[in-house]
Amino acid sequence: MTAGDGPSLAEAVSEATAVLAEAGVPSPRVDAELLAEHLLGVGLGRLRALMLGDSPAPEGYADLVAERAQRIPLQHITGVAHFRYLELAVGPGVFIPRPETESVVQLVLDWLSDRKRLHGLAHPKVVDLGTGSGAIAGSIAHEVPGAEVHAVEFSEFAHAWAEKNLAPLGVHLIRGDLRDALAEHNGTFDVVVSNPPYIPAEAIPNEPEVALHDPPEALYGGGADGMELPTAAAASAARLLVPGGYFVMEHAEVQSEWIAAMLNRTGVFAEVTTHRDLNGKDRATSAVLAPSGPTPANNRVTSDERIGQ
Ligand SMILES: C[S@@+](CC[C@H](N)C(=O)[O-])C[C@H]1O[C@@H](n2cnc3c(N)ncnc32)[C@H](O)[C@@H]1O
Repeated sequence: MTAGDGPSLAEAVSEATAVLAEAGVPSPRVDAELLAEHLLGVGLGRLRALMLGDSPAPEGYADLVAERAQRIPLQHITGVAHFRYLELAVGPGVFIPRPETESVVQLVLDWLSDRKRLHGLAHPKVVDLGTGSGAIAGSIAHEVPGAEVHAVEFSEFAHAWAEKNLAPLGVHLIRGDLRDALAEHNGTFDVVVSNPPYIPAEAIPNEPEVALHDPPEALYGGGADGMELPTAAAASAARLLVPGGYFVMEHAEVQSEWIAAMLNRTGVFAEVTTHRDLNGKDRATSAVLAPSGPTPANNRVTSDERIGQ
């Protein structure tokens, strides 16, 4: 106990850890500490130092722990999602960016770095289809000086969060449908990147944080196999890219073969490559728009070209 009436910070964090574990929160200790850090406005090192003394638990801590125990996402409680070097504002109505998507950004950065070294591409033009909070577009704008970055988002709620996050980074954000957005820029992008919705209609996620709090339009890709929007993103990449431009898309591990086959069968993409995330899972596929570029006859990627149908 502290000199006052309430529990010490260390006691409160231990109790919170037990409460969150009981509620089935996957990382109870981490979340208990992050909620305390959030209220105290300190980092982990300072929090641990405070826990060694007899600092009291911050006011309101039990209320936040109770919210988290109801499986409200941590990021909705703190209002912040950390993604690469960015602190993104998030809340209800927008998809919480995931760590595996940081690897998708890295693929874009690696490709751009090669193009700069080999071809002197110093001012690449990049678009993020289905930007959500703006995690991918914002990171590229932040980490690639000289890049012209565009972002497209359909949901008015997600668009509002993206606007808040992307305006300071100079990203050109539009509200639109990734199927037909930015037609006036056809054939001009060096990179098209997307983490589209891809979950099959019947595959409702187990975690309440996802099933109840990520917006459905961010999760379900359309169709029984969830492949409608990923297929549409590939079609848009075919029209938006310059010949030789790079397309990279995130997907579920089980979809990697479908996506690779779909891209190969279009006839407009070359160098189709599956990429593993940091956990060794096949979570992204890239391709290069064939140098001859799309033609009216071969630049359509339709659901007929999907496999496993
Ligand atoms: C899986 S979330 C990814 C968000 C963000 N790119 C990220 O990685 O955190 C997919 C996003 O695509 C948006 N979306 C869904 N359908 C769309 C469409 N037809 N056109 C544009 N965006 C769309 C959703 O609203 C959601 O923000």
